[in-house]
Amino acid sequence: MKTPGIFCAIDAPDLDSALDLTRKLKGTGVDLKLGLEFFVAEGPRGIDAVRSAAGEDVRIFLDLKLHDIPNTVAGAVKSALRCGADFLTIHAGGGREMMRAAVLAAAEGAAQSGKPAPVLLGVTVLTHMDGQDLAGIGIAASPAQQVERLARLAQAAELGGCICAPQEIAALRKSCGASFRLVVPGIRPAQSAAGDQKRIMTPQDAAALGADDLVIGRPITQAEDPARAAREIVDSLRAMAA
Ligand code: C5P
Repeated sequence: MKTPGIFCAIDAPDLDSALDLTRKLKGTGVDLKLGLEFFVAEGPRGIDAVRSAAGEDVRIFLDLKLHDIPNTVAGAVKSALRCGADFLTIHAGGGREMMRAAVLAAAEGAAQSGKPAPVLLGVTVLTHMDGQDLAGIGIAASPAQQVERLARLAQAAELGGCICAPQEIAALRKSCGASFRLVVPGIRPAQSAAGDQKRIMTPQDAAALGADDLVIGRPITQAEDPARAAREIVDSLRAMAA
């Protein structure tokens, strides 16, 4: 079994708290995910500061969930490239043309800047949405059907992978193959509080199903000792693979 990477979700409202967590997590083996809350407050300079504090070997996942007309998303991808993120999210629901524009912009921006292009990940159906919510926006498919449809569309547009709930790993692995990256939030170590996550799974079970990366926020960030919580998860996954 391959050991999945772990992105700790630094859902912090300001630079000081993000840097505090970043320093605490240094050397634990986890990578960092920075989302809209942080980016809207601190922008690219905040990302730079976190990257410098984290060190070269830590991967940065910029979770901006871009969704707009193709031209605007292409521009946003190019701007995001300047942050040097390793992963960037866009909404697969924006459609094939929007995702293609993002892929081309990432390749173009990378060629111009000499930096590697980020892996673009498609956001499928957000995990707070159930069948009724989908019906409310005019989608008759079940969440599972819609996730599969959007993941396949993202793959056809040549995105590198998608975000999916743990319960969707097996079906997506089957329909999208081994090389399509599956990045999985909704992860809770045994005995952790679920919080607002409705469909959760332990890191070990998600790893066994073949997740490439796990996104874990509160079980690490709200722990009394975040570094210890992170190390325990990393060690338990490495032990499984040994
Ligand atoms: O604290 P917790 O482990 O629930 O954090 C999960 C992280 O993953 C948050 O940053 C959240 O925005 C993100 N996420 C999610 N569900 C998705 C997509 C992203 O929980 N479908």
